[in-house]
Amino acid sequence: MSRFDEIIDRRGTDSYKWDTTAPGVTPVWVADMDFRTAPCIIEALKRRVEQGVFGYTAVPERYYRAIRHWFERRHGWIIDTDKIIYTPGVVPALSAIIKAMTRPGDKIICQTPAYNCFFSSIRNNGCILAANPLAGSEGEGFSIDYDNLENLASDPAAKLLILCNPHNPSGRVWTADELQRVADICLRHDMFVISDEIHCELTYPGHDYTPFATVAPEGLRWAACFSPSKAFNIAGLQIANILACNEDIMARIDRAVNDNEVCDVNPFGVIATVEAYENGAEWLDELRDYLWSNYQYLKNTFSILPQYPVAELQGTYLVWLNISASGMSADQLEALLEDRAAVRPASGSIYGSNDHLRINIACPRSVLANALDRMVPVLEAVSVVK
Ligand SMILES: Cc1ncc(COP(=O)(O)O)c(C=O)c1O
Repeated sequence: MSRFDEIIDRRGTDSYKWDTTAPGVTPVWVADMDFRTAPCIIEALKRRVEQGVFGYTAVPERYYRAIRHWFERRHGWIIDTDKIIYTPGVVPALSAIIKAMTRPGDKIICQTPAYNCFFSSIRNNGCILAANPLAGSEGEGFSIDYDNLENLASDPAAKLLILCNPHNPSGRVWTADELQRVADICLRHDMFVISDEIHCELTYPGHDYTPFATVAPEGLRWAACFSPSKAFNIAGLQIANILACNEDIMARIDRAVNDNEVCDVNPFGVIATVEAYENGAEWLDELRDYLWSNYQYLKNTFSILPQYPVAELQGTYLVWLNISASGMSADQLEALLEDRAAVRPASGSIYGSNDHLRINIACPRSVLANALDRMVPVLEAVSVVK
């Protein structure tokens, strides 16, 4: 029995995932986990709650130290500055960086499908999406279309590229070589790179996370956004960090974070981040093993439905399922599964694909197994490819 097998009733806790999903339906859409966070985080938060005073927070030196040590020890990324910008989330971070580094009307390149808030951040800052669809397929694996990227980057209106490293929703963990090629193209065309590394702790055997900063060539302008929020299931505590290539760019981003009034964090986010990075490694490794087994379980279940190819999960807990065989749009199939299987996946349409669903496997195995047991007959029944 694993600690992650425990079923925790999240209904009635104002959970975005559970309390906006119809009763009786299993939600596998939004990207949070149904697991309790690491005990060290819970204990530290309890101590803070006991004190009972919740005034404004000053982020302590220990916070920066915990981040630096973690990334150096775990990922070989030496962060040689204390000037890390904190903000209440990666999405506010992205938006502030876009604001700092572009002007309305500029084009921003993303590898699509892409996390939906990339699209809204681009739009909300008056910029224009330049989509670079991933090459490949579930079977052969997804990759970056470098020729098209070079093409898009050579447009003088293209000023910035958003990378998702690892990539939500395809599950790819980009290799150092792949990141280097992207960086070289961006350097050639003087494009600014934002690397969203929120999923960086969740990688599986044979696929290590490479911090973009460790491959970025001299002269390339970049910023990385990261947070322990996905891996430690503390997204509701709202905290994330930004690091950029030099002090001048850090200052510009800091200005935009302040202009957007997203420059304050809460005490719980600070405490949870420190605990995660100082004491969370063992728990995290257990979690990764569990998620990897959940993915094996799902793959095994889908082996009887080869017409619905499952993308290789190298990172994240979000499985990208090709549903072309259903002959239905992703929105239609999502609604049908909710109705007939009592399972609510995420329609690929919000990420830019009408023939995929995204399935969040970060739940106890028994919950996943039950959900899949209900999904499979529906998928089989609607399949136009037998
Ligand atoms: C790639 C990516 N970036 C950012 C976020 C959200 O970040 P935050 O909640 O810190 O704003 C998510 C959430 O799923 C995500 O997948």
